[in-house]
Amino acid sequence: MGNKGTISGKRGFKKNIDYWMDTKNWWAPLLFILIISLAGVGLIGFQTYNDAPPMTGFQTSDGTVLISKGNIEEGQIVFHKYALMEYGSFFGDGAQRGPDFTAETLHQITIHVNEYYQEQYKVEHGRPADPNEQKVIAEKVKQELKKNGYDGTEDIVVLNDAYVYALEKVRNYYLHVFMGISGENTFPLKNYLTDRSEILNLSDFFFWGAWVCVTERPEKNFSYTHNWPYDPEAGNTPTSPVVLWSVLGLLAFVLLCGIVLYFIGQYNQLSNKFFKPSSKELLTAGSVRDFVPTKTQKASYKFFFVAIVLFFVQVSSGFVTINEFVDYLGFFGVDLSESFPITVSRSWHLMLSLYWISTCWIASSIFILPILAKKEVKFQLQLINILFILLVVLVAGSLTGMVLGPMGLLGDWWHALGHQGWEFVDFGQAFQVLLMLIFVLWGIVVFRGIRPAFVRGMPWNLPNWIMYSIIGIPLLFISGFVARPETNFVIADFWRWMVVHMWVEAFFEVFITVIVSYLMVLMGLVSRNAAIRVIYFATILFLGTGLLGISHNFYWNAKPVATMALGSIFSTLQFVPLILLTVEAWRFKNMPRIALEGIKPSELGDFGFPEVFLFLIAVNFWNFFGAGVLGIIINLPIMNYYEHGTYLTVNHAHAALMGVYGNISLAAMLFATKLLLKPKKWNKKLVKVSFWSINLGLMLMVLLDLLPAGTIQFKAVVENGLWFARSDAFIGGGVFQSLTWLRGIGACIFLFGGVVPLMLFIVSRAVSLKRTAHTDSSLAKIARHDTI
Ligand code: HEM
Ligand SMILES: [Fe+2]
Repeated sequence: MGNKGTISGKRGFKKNIDYWMDTKNWWAPLLFILIISLAGVGLIGFQTYNDAPPMTGFQTSDGTVLISKGNIEEGQIVFHKYALMEYGSFFGDGAQRGPDFTAETLHQITIHVNEYYQEQYKVEHGRPADPNEQKVIAEKVKQELKKNGYDGTEDIVVLNDAYVYALEKVRNYYLHVFMGISGENTFPLKNYLTDRSEILNLSDFFFWGAWVCVTERPEKNFSYTHNWPYDPEAGNTPTSPVVLWSVLGLLAFVLLCGIVLYFIGQYNQLSNKFFKPSSKELLTAGSVRDFVPTKTQKASYKFFFVAIVLFFVQVSSGFVTINEFVDYLGFFGVDLSESFPITVSRSWHLMLSLYWISTCWIASSIFILPILAKKEVKFQLQLINILFILLVVLVAGSLTGMVLGPMGLLGDWWHALGHQGWEFVDFGQAFQVLLMLIFVLWGIVVFRGIRPAFVRGMPWNLPNWIMYSIIGIPLLFISGFVARPETNFVIADFWRWMVVHMWVEAFFEVFITVIVSYLMVLMGLVSRNAAIRVIYFATILFLGTGLLGISHNFYWNAKPVATMALGSIFSTLQFVPLILLTVEAWRFKNMPRIALEGIKPSELGDFGFPEVFLFLIAVNFWNFFGAGVLGIIINLPIMNYYEHGTYLTVNHAHAALMGVYGNISLAAMLFATKLLLKPKKWNKKLVKVSFWSINLGLMLMVLLDLLPAGTIQFKAVVENGLWFARSDAFIGGGVFQSLTWLRGIGACIFLFGGVVPLMLFIVSRAVSLKRTAHTDSSLAKIARHDTI
C-alpha cells in the first residue's frame, strides 16, 4: 500500500511538474491573474471617485460662509506649491518627521471645542466644571465631532458655534507656526511661507482634512478614514472592519503560504540539476578578461558614470536633510535651512533615488542588448546618445526646478517647471512628460536591440521577458498624469499610488527578477530553462498579490471598507513570494559552487564575478527582510492603523528601496563595469569594502535608529494618539533625537566607506575602458547559445 502510494504519488507529481514546465500552459493563469487584478483595481478606482468625501465649503448655522470650496482648493495648491508633503504629511502620506497636518488639526479642533464648552459651562454655572462634569463635556465633544453636518443639496457643511470657535483657533495656530511666532519648533520652516492669505487657505485645507478624518461617513458609524488617525479624545478609535479584516488577512496569508510551500516542496525534488547550466557556460575570470565590448556597450558607461555621481548627491542630500533635525552643521556655523530648505533637500533625496536607480537600469539594458542580438543594430548608438542627453536635461532641469518652485521664484510656472508637491512625484510636470518620453525611447531602443533575438512561437524566452517587464514601467507612469493640483486630495492620491506602489511592489519586482535571472544566466550560473520558469512563477506571485495589494496604501485616505478588505488580504499575500526567496537562498548562495562542480579550476579558471554575486545575494536578503519582514509588520489594517505616519514606514522604505533596488542597480553597474574595464583596472578589494559598507551601513541605520524610533513612536501613538507621536514635544525629545544621532553611525559608514569609494572608482575608470570590437565575434563568445 505504502509502495503503491509512493508510485502513484510520484506519477502525480511528475504530471503536475510536466504540466507547469510546458510553456504552452502558461497563458491561462497569467491572464486570469491580470484580469482579476485589473478588475479589482478598477473597482477601487471607481469607489475612490464614487465614495470620496465632498471637497466642500463650511458655513455657520445662520448661513455665513466661513470656508468656501475655493479656499480649500487654494489651500491644497499652497500645500503642493510649497512642497509641504516633504515636510509633514496629510492623511499620513508624506514626510514623517514634521507634523501630520490632519492629525494635528484634528487635535487642535478637539481641544478648542472642549475649551468652548468648558467656558460656556463656566458662564452658565458661575464656576468651572468639576472633573466628572469635564468628562461629560468630553463625551459630548466626541459626539458632536462625529456628527456629519454635510448638507448634500446645498453642498455645504454647517458648523455649530463650538466648531466655529475652533476654526478660528486653528487658523491662528497656523499663522503663528508659519510666521515663526509660536515658540519652540525642532525644525521650523523659517521665512518659507509668509503670505497671510496663503497660510489661511492652507489652514482651511487642513481643517477640511481633519473634518474628513473625524466626521461619520453617511450611514456609517465611523469616519471617512475609518476613524484614522487614532485620537481617543476626538472619538477616533479602531472600527470593527479594521479588526475583522486584519484577522481575515492573516488567515489568507497562512493558507497561501501553506499551498505555495507544498508546491515548492514538489518542485525542489527537481534538484540542482534543473538549475545547473552546462559547465562550459560559466563566465570565468578568463572570459571576462577576453571580452571585447561593442560601441553601444561602451556607451553605457557614461550612464553608469552619471548614475554613481547621482547616487552620491542623493545620499548627500539625505545628510543635508538630517542636518535639519539635529543641526550638526551648526557646530561649524553653517545654516542651510533658508537657502536649501528641508522640503527641497528631502525631495532631492527621494527623486534622485529614482533617477540613479533607473539610470542604472537603462544602462544595463543597453549593455546586454548586443549580447542578446549578437550584433550591433544600426543607429542604436545615436538613439542611446539622445537618451543620455534627455536624461541629463531631466535631472539637471528638474533638480533646479525643485529648488526654484517652492521658493516662489517660478511664479505661475511652479507646477510645470518647479515642484508638483507630490512625494515621489515631486518634479515639475514638464519633467514628468520628459521622463515619459525617456521611457518610451528606452522601450524603442530595447525593442530594436532585442528584435533579432525574438523567436517566433516562443513568447516566453528571456528576451521577451525583458521586453514585457520594460513595457510595464511607462504604462503605469501614465497614471501620474491624471490628477491636477486642485483635484480632490483623496482622488489625486489614488493616482499617485498607482505609480508609486505599482512600480515598487509589482512591476519593478518583476523587472528585477528578470534582470537577476538574466545576470545569473549570463554568468553561467543557471540554465535558461530554469530562469524563465523562475521568472514566470515569480511574475504570477508578484502580480497576483502586488496589483491588488495597492489597497494597503488606501486604508486611511477615505476609501470604503471593500478597499480595505482587498488590501488586507492581497497585500499580506505579497510576503509569500518573498518568503520563497529564503527557501531558495541556500541554493542561490551556492550557485557558483554548484555550477563549478566536478570541474578542475585549472580548466575553467575562477568564476568571474564573485563581487557582483555578493550584491545579488544582498538583493535577495533585503527583499526578504526590508520589503517582506519590515513591510509585513506595518501591513495588517489594525497594525497599520497605529503605525501609519510613523518611522516604521521610513524604516521599511529605506530597507526595501535601497536594499532591493539599490543593490540590484549596483550589481548591474558592476557587472557591466567589470566587462568594460581593462582587467588590471578592476579593484576587487575596493568593491568588496564598498559592498560591506553599504549593506552594513544600511543595516545599522535600520537597527540603531529607524526601527527603534518607529517602535517607540508606535508606542506613543497607542498611548496618546498620532498627533502626539508627531508633535514637537515627542520628535524633539531626547530619545528620538538621540536615535537620530545614532543613525549617523550607519549613515557615515554607508557614505564614506561605500558610496564615496565606489564613486571614485567608477569615475576614475572612465579613462580605462577596453577598446571596442570591430567585429561582432566577441559577442558570440558571451552568448554561446541560440536561445539566450
Ligand atoms: C522592494 C519592494 C518594496 C519597496 C521598494 C517598498 C517601498 C515602499 C516605500 C518607499 C513606501 C513609503 C511610501 C511613502 O511614504 O510615500 C512603502 C510603503 C508601504 N509598504 Fe512597501 N515596499 C516594498 C514592498 C512591500 C511589501 C512586500 C509590503 C507588504 C508585505 C509592503 C508594505 C508597505 C506598506 C503597508 C506601506 C505603507 C505604510 C504606511 O504608509 O503606513 N511593501 N513601501
Ligand atoms: Fe504599497
